[in-house]
Amino acid sequence: MQKSFLTRGRLAAVGVASAAIVAAGAVAAGASDRHRATDVAATATSITSEPWGSANGQSVNLYTLKNSHGMTVTITNYGGIVQSIDVPDRNGKVANVALGFSTLAGYLQNNSTSPGASGTTYFGAIIGRYANRIANGQFTLNGVTYHLPQNNGTNTLHGGPNAWNTKVWAATPSNNAQGAHLTLTYTDPAGTNGFPGTVHATVEYTLTQDNALRITYSATTDAPTVINLTNHSYFNLAGEGSGGVQGQTMMINANSYTPVNANLIPTGVLAPVAGTAFDFRTPKPIGQDINNGDTQLVLAHGFDHNWVLNRTGTGLSLAARAADPVSGRVLTTWTTEPGVQFYTGNFLQGDLVGTSGKTYRQTDGFTLETQHFPDSPNQPSFPSTVLNPGTPFHSETVYQFSVAGSGGDSSNTHSGDRHSGKRH
Ligand code: GLA
Repeated sequence: MQKSFLTRGRLAAVGVASAAIVAAGAVAAGASDRHRATDVAATATSITSEPWGSANGQSVNLYTLKNSHGMTVTITNYGGIVQSIDVPDRNGKVANVALGFSTLAGYLQNNSTSPGASGTTYFGAIIGRYANRIANGQFTLNGVTYHLPQNNGTNTLHGGPNAWNTKVWAATPSNNAQGAHLTLTYTDPAGTNGFPGTVHATVEYTLTQDNALRITYSATTDAPTVINLTNHSYFNLAGEGSGGVQGQTMMINANSYTPVNANLIPTGVLAPVAGTAFDFRTPKPIGQDINNGDTQLVLAHGFDHNWVLNRTGTGLSLAARAADPVSGRVLTTWTTEPGVQFYTGNFLQGDLVGTSGKTYRQTDGFTLETQHFPDSPNQPSFPSTVLNPGTPFHSETVYQFSVAGSGGDSSNTHSGDRHSGKRH
């Protein structure tokens, strides 16, 4: 049975990037309000839930967040996975732009010890407690060396085995002036995968009326630890399962990136992108330079690197803009984080059947994992990922969808620096 958390409201138009929804009951009756009453239905956001099986002996739901501008996002509280993102193109035609599986069983299988040749893909999942790699499965904090399970060669990847992407999160749906929300919480006990400190994490997904999927991450700890949180959605702006993204354009707002060694661990150098395949400062097709023989592209089998974002202030700042020239869909990413991992699905080998029944092959999607830099616990020159008691972690990322006509895109108007989102 489907539960509904629907709030109907009318557009009250505050600011460029958000729309306020006022409860229908607050709209006065009367002739002049009849028009507004029509708007009420037209501007509603909603969130519903349905049972979606069980994992780790706990029941799991699938939540459907909708707005009235053609966007629908489904999210499960298993791993906080964004399972689908339906977005209209410039002609209003809707496609699911997120790679994923059609059933919970697909995700459970991919997270199991036999994930298939593509390995664990982390499709759409919340990644914690440490996104990306920690070299040699160890780090030293306040004089103590912590040993973590090595689940990626000698590295610890994405928090280690059975990390936050495999947990059933407590979920609270709601709907208000800012949009449809799903608030997820999870407590990661001290010692799990070797990390010190019990971490209480809250991730809130919001679908707004202006076609943004906003993600806020908060965390506290009871002992010093390290933290790096992201979402691992893979996007294909032509629709998942439609083939490669090489023809889609990417702009990354970064003058430098962090080159890696053969284990995909940053060397510590912040290398200028100028004159390399890594220069996405002006939009270019993702496939333009991907085969150009750059040693870094050979090591990673494509793009799988952290870009050092050109930040302005401490709030939301422009990270990247991707566009599909055919459909006109545009994805603009804003974040409070200092880096973004642009990964071109290099490990996808055609052995996984995705949501619409098509297999996923290398370069069939890309991720924009906003984050602190990989291996920061072992790299003193990188921005710190230490989380201490009494100084909560907070970060925010916005995936803003829009469409471009033949002349440009309509996503340049997002009001960025509205929130302070730094580590305190
Ligand atoms: C991140 C990593 C990649 C890969 C994917 C998951 O993007 O940087 O190397 O492990 O996650 O497949």
